[in-house]
Amino acid sequence: MPSIDLLSRFRDRLSLPLIAAPMFLVSGVELVAAACRNGVIGSFPTVNCRSPEQLDQWLTDIGNRLKAHADASGKQPAPVCANLIVHRSNARLERDIEVLLRHRPEMVITSVGSPAPVLNALHDAGALVFADVASIRHAERAVAAGADGLVLLTAGAGGQTGWLNPFVFVRAVRAFFDGPLVLAGGISDGYALRAAEALGCDLAYMGTKFIATRESMADARYKAMLVASSADDIFLTTAFTGLQTNMLRPSIAAAGLDPDNLPQRGAIDIGKDIDVGAREDRPKRWKDVWSAGHSVSGVAEVLSVDEMIARTAAEYREASTRV
Ligand SMILES: Cc1cc2nc3c(=O)[nH]c(=O)nc-3n(C[C@H](O)[C@H](O)[C@H](O)COP(=O)(O)O)c2cc1C
Repeated sequence: MPSIDLLSRFRDRLSLPLIAAPMFLVSGVELVAAACRNGVIGSFPTVNCRSPEQLDQWLTDIGNRLKAHADASGKQPAPVCANLIVHRSNARLERDIEVLLRHRPEMVITSVGSPAPVLNALHDAGALVFADVASIRHAERAVAAGADGLVLLTAGAGGQTGWLNPFVFVRAVRAFFDGPLVLAGGISDGYALRAAEALGCDLAYMGTKFIATRESMADARYKAMLVASSADDIFLTTAFTGLQTNMLRPSIAAAGLDPDNLPQRGAIDIGKDIDVGAREDRPKRWKDVWSAGHSVSGVAEVLSVDEMIARTAAEYREASTRV
């Protein structure tokens, strides 16, 4: 337990120590609202909205849905958590923060860079700021910058992944940081979630598992491929994003590319993510070539978020009787 328990402000609103991880082109209003209704922190990257104006609409829409649910059920939902890409390439960052601040965020996760430039404004608004990190050095820097919590990206995580073994990473960071830790990567059921807590984490991400829910914005073929795939189908490459990214091997082949003969380091020219004028005949990373983590082995069917979280909670209770 950290010296100051920062999560105490909303722990009683959580049904599980879980965050529905932010995912580009996957996490939208339906998924976030369903997660929060079920007592799971619902996260989404702000760049999933076409514009800051749409971000404003999303936050209003999610807020209205959660208020209606709270009024009807008497239960307060888990926090909504925006994910800010703080890399300099995100030209919208300042405008997205302005919108976010108007909605009084409880929690924000920063990705792809130091949280330092956004910390003061978010803290002043009362938000907890978690920074995602993939190395011990980055974890030290994020703590020194003033992050309230850390998301540890570990080997096998979906999207732009970490590479450290989770056992090693969590214990190494716990040696110098007693604030909230979130484990990202390899969590696909309540057993793994409980194990993350035993290791010293306060929360964990599930990403891939939520792609295969009815509420996610992912293409139906993507969801079907997750059901059909195992961890053996996950392919680690820098070819698409320039950073170490876990991709679904069958989706690379389906896009007409040879997974075993890809160029290195983002060299492959497959069009842009948020696309203005890229050639239509080229596959686009994330849109046509899909990402998933090793946790894909835990995806057996496409479920509603309600069902998926209920099953995870049952597994978590069962695992809790063992440790
Ligand atoms: C399709 C996809 C898109 C992602 N997009 C983002 C993103 O926009 N921002 C971010 O911080 N992490 C992103 N991630 C990483 C996830 O938030 C999380 O770290 C990862 O999914 C955890 O591993 P798991 O999928 O095995 O649960 C993405 C992951 C996937 C699979």
